[in-house]
Amino acid sequence: MTAADVAPVVVPESLSPSAGRLRRAPRSPTRSSRMSDAFIIVSNLSFSWHDDTPVFTDLSFTVAAGRTGLVAPNGAGKSTLLRMISGEQEPDDGTIRRAGGRVAYLSQRLDLLDVERTVAENLSAFASGTQEAERMNLLARFLFRGSRAHLPVGVLSGGERLRATLACVLCADAAPQLLLLDEPTNNLDLVSVGQLESALGAYEGAFVVVSHDERFLAEIKVGRWLELSGGRLVERGGPAGE
Ligand SMILES: Nc1ncnc2c1ncn2[C@@H]1O[C@H](COP(=O)(O)OP(=O)(O)OP(=O)(O)O)[C@@H](O)[C@H]1O
Ligand SMILES: [Mg+2]
Repeated sequence: MTAADVAPVVVPESLSPSAGRLRRAPRSPTRSSRMSDAFIIVSNLSFSWHDDTPVFTDLSFTVAAGRTGLVAPNGAGKSTLLRMISGEQEPDDGTIRRAGGRVAYLSQRLDLLDVERTVAENLSAFASGTQEAERMNLLARFLFRGSRAHLPVGVLSGGERLRATLACVLCADAAPQLLLLDEPTNNLDLVSVGQLESALGAYEGAFVVVSHDERFLAEIKVGRWLELSGGRLVERGGPAGE
């Protein structure tokens, strides 16, 4: 199936402001009530670097609400596409329409947090509407306990920085409706991958995840698999044919 075959989506006029919030207490909302909205419509996107190397030519696709995995070889343009969807980078041509609500983009560089401030201070900036005790509990769930929560972000390892970024983004006052994750498992050991899987399991919004790790994508129950190939986006089945 090609991108052109994918049914058009309806972008809702407004989305619930709490749609992307991380659940703070376990409950079991139905999947349909959490993921009933559509998010991104990309039309006729073209982009070349300054040396005229084309990355995308007339690319059109839609991303509905839910969990989308984006796979492709190195250099195919996955990070470039996520930057464009996030609004960080402008295309040469074409349009990208997003449903209302906040978009959180975790780049491969993980540069969202203030490296001079501690993990706790960063979370305080993202979630100023929470009490300190609540923030400490949240950080403990992301494995920052006691003095670890007071380390400057600049000294954290890659895996720790990903956990700190996720804690801030998922627990923010204005929770994201759409999460864009670029190779989130790159720096993670098995324990941290498991922790990331459960954090994403509790996240109620939509996400697009770029990853080479197909086991991880299957584990986080990606419902739609897109492959970027030769500047085109095609829909494909998951590793088990889902
Ligand atoms: N500033 C730039 N100037 C010129 N070419 C660039 C620039 N940034 C990226 N590219 C090229 O654009 C192409 C797509 O890069 P991008 O980072 O989007 O790929 P990717 O699919 O995310 O790769 P990876 O799997 O390695 O992360 C690559 O060939 C890359 O070399
Ligand atoms: Mg990349």
